Order: sequence, then structure tokens, then C-alpha cells
Amino acid sequence: MIIPYSKQSISKSDIKAVTKVLRSDYLTQGPKVLEFENRINKFVKSRFSVAVNSATSGLHLACLALGLKKGDWLWTSVNSFVASANCGLYCGAKIDLLDIDINDYNISINLLEKKLEEAKKNNKLPKIIIPVHFAGRPCKMREIFRLSKKYHFKIIEDASHALGAKINNKKIGACNFSSMTVFSFHPVKNITTAEGGIVTTNNKFLANKLKILRTHGINKNKKKFLTKNPPPWFFEQVDLGFNYRMNDLEGALGISQLVKLNFFIKKRNQIANFYQKKLKDLPIILPSKDKNILNCYHLFPIRINIENSKKIRLKLFNFFKKKNIFVNVHYIPIHYHPYYAKMGFKRKDYPNLEKYYGSVMSLPIFPDIKKTQLEKIIKYLKIFFKKHKK
Ligand SMILES: Cc1ncc(COP(=O)(O)O)c(C=O)c1O
Repeated sequence: MIIPYSKQSISKSDIKAVTKVLRSDYLTQGPKVLEFENRINKFVKSRFSVAVNSATSGLHLACLALGLKKGDWLWTSVNSFVASANCGLYCGAKIDLLDIDINDYNISINLLEKKLEEAKKNNKLPKIIIPVHFAGRPCKMREIFRLSKKYHFKIIEDASHALGAKINNKKIGACNFSSMTVFSFHPVKNITTAEGGIVTTNNKFLANKLKILRTHGINKNKKKFLTKNPPPWFFEQVDLGFNYRMNDLEGALGISQLVKLNFFIKKRNQIANFYQKKLKDLPIILPSKDKNILNCYHLFPIRINIENSKKIRLKLFNFFKKKNIFVNVHYIPIHYHPYYAKMGFKRKDYPNLEKYYGSVMSLPIFPDIKKTQLEKIIKYLKIFFKKHKK
């Protein structure tokens, strides 16, 4: 049997929740989406939530809601999925990428500060920065927030990996240090709605803007109509929006999955602790710990700590594949993709990322993984590293 690097966990109650919607009046956005939004607000402690059909759509709308446009700069982590940067390009903005901290693989605060100082001199300060809570480990939000006040940029948290993660006991999504936070519910994420995402915020203006943009730019609130004496069937398009709506099947699945999220996070932490304990004597660097955060371990990235790590990683990848263990590498750096490479990014400008990407591999981690499967992974790692010592 194949062991994937990640997989959704679907129970009978999830199936029941979705089939109930199939028998109801609403298949598109309806009461279940609204209920899901309210439950997310309650869970992360945000004032507003706007559910969408993916985190990619959520990031796009969040950029638009902050007025990102041609000529502006958007900065994000070089160690992310392309969606974290694409959202800026959709708005016509220019993209710059930030090197990571080699300790937590999130954006480096020191390097960010240096880059901001340089950008200030050149009049190229970003309008928006998107920190990415990579692998479910929160970024240093307080420090990024401090810099946002000094250099006047807005923050959108890309929390695609981080539903349930905490800093100082406060959940990511509460937007204590940002304008908006975006979560993904793609199947490998901490909970799934098949495809789906949500944007949380405490700002009413932004929430309304997101709601209008998610549905073609249409306003149905009669009190705000610009047309005088509208007929009863009337609604107005007031902006150029999209069809980015979540549907009620997805909303119902989200509600049902959310009930299990604390259990999922506990399982992920147990798996991470098991790996930490069993792998500590191998020549690999395990994710570092921080007592002030709750990591929800969407991924479990390890780094091979041997010379020639690139070659050894490839060997290990193929060795695992032969044993039906499908590990992965997160991420192909954004500027390695030909679409971004042609924008002139230089690999030497990202020394920490180079060190990281040359050695990293994501081990399987998901709530339904069996102990025997974990033991199999550990066994093969030990066999492999017997042959490949320092
Ligand atoms: C960091 C990050 N941002 C954004 C996305 C996009 O999420 P979605 O697939 O929900 O659009 C992903 C998905 O993998 C991601 O990992």
C-alpha cells in the first residue's frame, strides 16, 4: 500500500453532512456557507469571515480589497506555493521575494528589515507583504507588524497551512497583526472542503468589499442601491468581481471537518513528536521548536545534514518511492519556476533558501497515518542512513 505525504481524513459524519445538503434546496452558496463562516469566526476569534472557492481566490480578493494595483509592489516568501505571489500579479502589481530564516523556514525578519530599508531609499516600498505560515508554523507576526507600522505596508497572512496554529495562545486568523488572513481547505490541508478557502478579518469595510468581489461585484443590499426606486427584483453590479463563491456542499463538509480539527492537530503533533524522538540520532535536521507557538504540522520538513545533501536527497526520494512511500519537497522556490525566473530573480540573493531547498524533504504526516506506516518510514530512513553517513 502506498503511503502518501498527506491525505484528507473523511468520516461517515462528513459524508452524511454533504449528502444532507444534496437533498436540500441549496447547492450553491446558502445557509451552510454562512454557518461555516460563523463557526470559523468563533474558532479563530475573528469578527468577519468570507468563504471562497480556494485560498488562491481568497488571496486575490484580499489584494483587491486593499487596493493593490499596477505599479504597486507585493512581497512574499520565496518558500511558498506560487499562489502566494500570483495574487499580486493578478492585480497588475510587481512581485519581490523574501529569503527565509534557516531556523523556522518562514521569512527572515532581519533580512526583511534590511530589504525594507533599501527599498525606502529607492522609493520601492511594498504596499502589501504576505507572510506565509509555512508547514503550519506561525511567522513572527509581532515583528512583521512592527515593521508594517514603520514602513507603511499592509499585511495579508497566507495561513493556507495554519488553521488551528497559535502564537502566544492566540489563533492564527484572529488578525491581531494583519488586515486579513487566508486559509486553504484543499484536501491535504488541516481540514478540507475539497476545494475551498476563507478570508478572515476584523475590518467591516474589507469584509463587505470581499463579499461583493466574490460574487461578480454585485450588491444585493437594497439600502445601499445607487438606483432610485428600484423594482423588487433589482440588484446592482457596483464593481468588477468574480464568481469565487464556496457552495453549500463544501460549507457543510467544512462544518463537519471543523468539529474534528482539534483532534487532527493533536494527532499531527503526536506524529511530529514520534518522528522527533525516533529520528534524533540520524544526520537530519528536524523542525525546531518554540514554546510560544502551537505548530499544527501541515507538513513535516526534514533537512539532510550531510555533505552533498542534494544528491543524497534525490537518492532517498527514489529509495522511498521504490518502497511505495511518496515523500515530497516543499516548495520548489517561486523564482525557480520559468514564469518567475524570467523576471530576473537571482538565486544568489536567497542564500538561506538555497541551503534549505538543497536538503529538504517532507515526510508523510496526516491524521489517519497508521503507527505501522510510521514505523516503516523510520525503518527505511535508518537503513538508508546506515549507508549514507556524514
Ligand atoms: C502556501 C499556500 N498558499 C496558497 C495555496 C493555494 O491554496 P488553494 O489550493 O486553496 O487555492 C496553497 C496551496 O497549496 C499553499 O500551500
